[in-house]
Amino acid sequence: MSELLDHLKRRIAAEGPLSVADYMSEALANPKHGYYMTGDPLGKQGDFITAPEISQMFGELIGLWCATVWDQMGQPEKMSLIEMGPGRGTLMVDALRALVMAPTFLDAIEIHMIETSPSLQIRQRRNLQSLEFDIQWHESFAGVPEGPFILIANELIDALPIRQFEKTVAGWGERKVGRNEGDELQWMLDQSVIVPDSFIPRDLFEGPLGSIFEFCQSGISLVTSISESIAKFGGAALFIDYGHTQSAIGDTLQAVKNHQYHNVLLDPGEADLTAHVDFERLAETARAVGASAYGAIPQSDFLRRLGIEHRAKQLKKAASDRQKSEVISGLNRLIGENEMGRLFKVLAIAHADQPMPEGFAG
Ligand SMILES: C[S@@+](CC[C@H](N)C(=O)[O-])C[C@H]1O[C@@H](n2cnc3c(N)ncnc32)[C@H](O)[C@@H]1O
Repeated sequence: MSELLDHLKRRIAAEGPLSVADYMSEALANPKHGYYMTGDPLGKQGDFITAPEISQMFGELIGLWCATVWDQMGQPEKMSLIEMGPGRGTLMVDALRALVMAPTFLDAIEIHMIETSPSLQIRQRRNLQSLEFDIQWHESFAGVPEGPFILIANELIDALPIRQFEKTVAGWGERKVGRNEGDELQWMLDQSVIVPDSFIPRDLFEGPLGSIFEFCQSGISLVTSISESIAKFGGAALFIDYGHTQSAIGDTLQAVKNHQYHNVLLDPGEADLTAHVDFERLAETARAVGASAYGAIPQSDFLRRLGIEHRAKQLKKAASDRQKSEVISGLNRLIGENEMGRLFKVLAIAHADQPMPEGFAG
């Protein structure tokens, strides 16, 4: 039995069944055995592949987007460029390479990376060192110095722990992870939990029996802190993730291992666990503290408006046949309707006095 599974069973024996959020936190972020803490799960050899790992165009366009936001902010002389959950650091490498076209922006920024995984932090340092930028790493947003900033987070919020609530004849209960008689992990429902009214939107609260609603407290807390800082100091944040534009019913918790779906309760710490992001809730959260929110819109719309097709044409001009087909397949994966183009969404949060960021206009 893996040490993490053993630890989880002991925790359940001592405390009773764990919420999905506690289970996810242990599986992904247990300091010794958590999925992100122990290695590098990204890329073709890993368990899943993300947009920056698919094509350089993704990071390049987002880098240039940051320069346009800085312009809309009135070109502050000093501000932070922050990436949260940077994986291998590929997005930042591609962004900074593209930003040689915007030297005054590069002069104005201090770069901050927020990463909880020591092993991925090492990987990021290695990837970024040749660019010779002065970069600081932090474990949380609270560690970044105060002031105006632009923050990027690709596939971060889907990795934050969610709680799951299920509607039964006895009302809403909480889905939890317990142990069965054979000493395996199993799903169960805790009807003793009192679900706060504010968690589930009214129309969904009245939904049919069997409805499952997912609530991401840590995502809401994070977006609250980021939006409060934007409202105070100016700037913007860009969240890209798979999720729904409107709060909805549904069990979206999934495990992925070796690019295949996996049983969520098998092999904790050895498979990625994610849940769809409730973008409507995050946009409401930002507005509630005085920031503006744009979207969420499909990734395909956002990247097309930033000129991804034009960039692909440029790249193809100087490319070998093999490189050309990589550019074409990368473009298709990023904006294809049946690939990441529709499923992935983009939400921007900005200071209320700033204009609408690029990529969100019709
Ligand atoms: C799915 S990976 C995405 C990596 C990268 N953004 C990309 O697109 O390739 C999630 C990243 O978020 C990091 N992460 C997870 N929880 C975090 C947290 N609470 N704060 C900061 N980083 C976190 C992981 O270690 C990893 O780097």
